[in-house]
Amino acid sequence: MNLKIDTELDYIVKIKKINEGKNLKYFILTMGCQLNENDSEKISGMIENMGYTKTENLEEADLVVFNTCCVRENAEDRLFGKLGEVKKIKEKRGTIIAIGGCMMQEKHIVEKLKQSYPFFDIIFGTHTLHKFPEDLYTKIIDNKRIEDILDIDGEIIEGLPITRNDNIKASVTIMNGCNNFCTYCIVPYVRGRERSRNPKDVINEIKELAKQGYKEITLLGQNVNSYLRSGNTDFDSNIKSFSELLREVNKINGIERIRFISPHPKDFTDDVIEAIRDCDKVCKIIHLPLQSGSTQILKSMNRKYTKEQYLNLVEKMRKMIPEISFSTDIIVGFPGETEEDFEDTLDVVRKVNFEQVYMFIYSRRVGTPGDKMENQVPEEIKHERFDRLKQLVESQISENNQKYIGTIQKVLVEGISKTNNELLTGRTDSNKVVNFFGSEELIGNVVELKITSEHMWYLKGELFDKC
Ligand code: SAH
Ligand code: SF4
Ligand code: F3S
Repeated sequence: MNLKIDTELDYIVKIKKINEGKNLKYFILTMGCQLNENDSEKISGMIENMGYTKTENLEEADLVVFNTCCVRENAEDRLFGKLGEVKKIKEKRGTIIAIGGCMMQEKHIVEKLKQSYPFFDIIFGTHTLHKFPEDLYTKIIDNKRIEDILDIDGEIIEGLPITRNDNIKASVTIMNGCNNFCTYCIVPYVRGRERSRNPKDVINEIKELAKQGYKEITLLGQNVNSYLRSGNTDFDSNIKSFSELLREVNKINGIERIRFISPHPKDFTDDVIEAIRDCDKVCKIIHLPLQSGSTQILKSMNRKYTKEQYLNLVEKMRKMIPEISFSTDIIVGFPGETEEDFEDTLDVVRKVNFEQVYMFIYSRRVGTPGDKMENQVPEEIKHERFDRLKQLVESQISENNQKYIGTIQKVLVEGISKTNNELLTGRTDSNKVVNFFGSEELIGNVVELKITSEHMWYLKGELFDKC
């Protein structure tokens, strides 16, 4: 254990003493990606150790945490809406308001908060998350507003308490930051440079999760296949690359499924493809962010691959792993995107036939090169292209769903369906949701289901009896 974590654990104990017998509650809202979600699990872990219990009701919270995202404008707008709501609650019951996450690394946002929403109590950034107990303690004792934001890359702090949101599937962050500077993207500015965790810490965390009964692990990073390729890589471990990490995680007893997000197509080396092929637990659906199908636009996005290279990679992976399928991220309306460029995107979508496509309308981010480009695409064209892409994707998904009907799928049962409490819900290896009738004892197990019907965003199945 290092000194920093010891100091924070001391603050946790001090706050716990102050809070004793008060029955205090906290509310946390996660606004970003799975990395942001995993950070929220750590924030919750710290807070619960300080004696707060979780509430889903903002009105009864004594401590509110907003864990923000700034990847697109709508993510930012959400925070301002929520702050308006929480202001009244603070006036009533003196709620402490803490705002953390990626958006707090943006100077113009912090300025805006100070000017228009000065009632917040603590703001903390992505590099100071582990210092939350100290910041909260200072707020409670000195009753002054805290701004704890660092511009330099934070160290990786191991040993923070964590409260996980699920007890079957767990996310494990293997690296922080990004070095790629795609010209549309704010992430490298708010998360800093790539820093890999020590493989030993990653393996120990997963072994511990397996012991606790977790069945599925998602390895997280902004660019997972450059794990141990940049920053400090001088670890005393026999694991020296992402592919070796996959092979080691595959050996951990109890873990049944391994997923990872996101790899970058430019770093998808053969050793990673071979590891996916050889490791039975690694799911054979790969999230391979395309962003655009036009070589010209990809160049201007600084993605470092062409349309042909992307398609060749998909082809190569299909040859090596015939059952593989893909999901992707696509941005429409990046500056300079012509109708022809957009047709190239549609062309790749048709050729690859993705299982799932996460589609985004380009959103200008302050401080990125994309924001300064002159040839911005008008809003109505962006929306019109988005709708066309969505139509194509949906028609492909419903067509793809047909191929599941009548097949037997291995499904990890995750719990009771949120939309119909008589049904259980789970996911196939390819991440498709399947609902079916079954007893609650099956939750947490992998079962074989015969798929009986498809409903666009989910499938229905029935337990398959081999006899
Ligand atoms: N590191 C990951 C994910 C980054 S953020 C990756 O490289 O895939 C998730 C997705 O948000 C990106 O893949 C991209 O499709 C989208 N995105 C990022 N910046 C955006 C912007 N300015 N406007 C619209 N979509 C954006
Ligand atoms: Fe953003 Fe590109 Fe880094 Fe992904 S790889 S986080 S899109 S800069
Ligand atoms: Fe994730 Fe949003 Fe930050 S996508 S890394 S929470 S900007």
